[in-house]
Amino acid sequence: MRLTYTADLWWKNAVVYCLDVETYKDGNGDGVGDFRGLTQQVDHLDRLGVTCIWLMPFFPTPGRDDGYDITDFYSVDPRLGTLGDFVEFVRTAKDRGIRVIADLVVNHTSDEHPWFKEARAGRDAAKRDWYVWKDDPDPVDPEAIVFPDKEDGVWELDKKSGQYYLHSFYRFQPDLNLDNPEVRDEIARILGFWMQLGLSGFRVDAVPFLIEGIRGDPHSYLADLRAFMNRRDGGAILLGEVNLPYPDLMRYFGDGNGDEVTMCFDFIGMQRFHLSMARQNPQALADALSQRPAPPKDCHWATFVRNHDELTLDKLTDAERQEVFAAFGPKKDMQVFDRGLRRRLPPMLDGDLRRLKLAYSVLFSLPGTPVLFYGEEIGLGENLKGEGRMAVRIPMQWTPDGGFSPVAAKTPVPSPTGKYGPRNVNVDAQRRDPDSLLRWVTMLIERYRESPELAWGDYDVLASGDEAVLVHRADAEGGTVVAVHNFADREAEVDFVLKGLDGRRVLTDLLVDGTLDLPADGRVRFTLEPYGTRWLRSAAPDQPLEDASAKGS
Ligand code: GLC
Repeated sequence: MRLTYTADLWWKNAVVYCLDVETYKDGNGDGVGDFRGLTQQVDHLDRLGVTCIWLMPFFPTPGRDDGYDITDFYSVDPRLGTLGDFVEFVRTAKDRGIRVIADLVVNHTSDEHPWFKEARAGRDAAKRDWYVWKDDPDPVDPEAIVFPDKEDGVWELDKKSGQYYLHSFYRFQPDLNLDNPEVRDEIARILGFWMQLGLSGFRVDAVPFLIEGIRGDPHSYLADLRAFMNRRDGGAILLGEVNLPYPDLMRYFGDGNGDEVTMCFDFIGMQRFHLSMARQNPQALADALSQRPAPPKDCHWATFVRNHDELTLDKLTDAERQEVFAAFGPKKDMQVFDRGLRRRLPPMLDGDLRRLKLAYSVLFSLPGTPVLFYGEEIGLGENLKGEGRMAVRIPMQWTPDGGFSPVAAKTPVPSPTGKYGPRNVNVDAQRRDPDSLLRWVTMLIERYRESPELAWGDYDVLASGDEAVLVHRADAEGGTVVAVHNFADREAEVDFVLKGLDGRRVLTDLLVDGTLDLPADGRVRFTLEPYGTRWLRSAAPDQPLEDASAKGS
């Protein structure tokens, strides 16, 4: 496949890496992560092969929702640095060929934001209509409450004015009124500001909530926002948090037009992935891949196995969710909101390196753009002493001593101790260990980048000959890559047919040395080790691999 495409539509085979500046690296020795520290670590991300960094909120905040409660959209939280430090970071990342995007959290502000303070001054306040008020709101469906452990509704009484304000999330996060043109203008200014300082797009927080109050056609607002952004920079992206069933979600891409959110996270695929891992049988994931609609032209899915929130299992049936809980988080304190896990993958898998390697091999082979949460590359664990979703937001582990800060960390959650503590899980040690998860993920990323067919080709799930094995095939411009994954802790006899590839070809193993002959009938058979993975590229035997990919033959 022609690699020139991957430069224009860069997001379609990007490697996105989400991190929180606060927990990544302390550069000034005060115990809190900051932009200077992060900038010093940019080569770690470059070596890993990351092409786009997603920054979690780094704006001034009272920190009651880990920065998703913002008091100023136009500056940097002083604990994390200055605007100058931000610009130096973006510039350094760009020098390494890495784009930077950031969270756009404009469904709500903090209740300490000056806009809200002004709005609640009285019913006639100039900014009153920037938020959503009601005299007598209807009771809310308990199912619609996002954080049921802390909230019992979405309307909070403002005693002074006697009116209620809407808060889709916590009560200290009043919803902005997107129906108000002034608010929309302000949001555009926020985008423009950060793009001017070098951002290449935004991860848009809570998109369905953001547009739900808009009268008329709420989706025309998303199209406007996208158009505004792409007028300023044609290559900038909106990466949307839209956790909805596939048919409802397609609307957020702008249906056939593809003029709203550039990429949407595949929450359904993620949940079915974990169900498949729990069952040691990939059928649930295969079903999701078959049901998942193709996004409109130039739009794309973003794939992930973990993010900074709870591992939500809300789109599984109750029985399926219980299966995943039983396999990966049986204790009550590992679960949250009755719908998810507050764990990272390695402890969920009992630290089984074979299974972790399988999980990331699946992730990087799936159609879509993979998004990593910091630390996944080294198998960072969690600290269940952290409150709720915070358990997974621990400091990054660089060296056996932690290496996060020269002083005691002042992060919201400390590093874990024991098996997942810095002594046993850190970047330095894994760089030197050829069998480490870090080296494996680095190789996967390298091969994934060389094989854009995987991320954006047409794909098919093939009959694999064994119920524990997922075989999927990706085709683009004459290039074919086949990924084979054994989800079970036993050997599997793989047996699949590659149609349309003539018998002169061989299959070159991209992960392990070796080639397989592809017989004239296209039938491939081999034994795969427990949790084994293969990525196979088809090529004519006398043709170098590079040519196969460059000429698309
Ligand atoms: C999104 C974020 C989550 C945050 C919420 C409110 O779901 O991922 O962390 O709490 O929005 O902003």
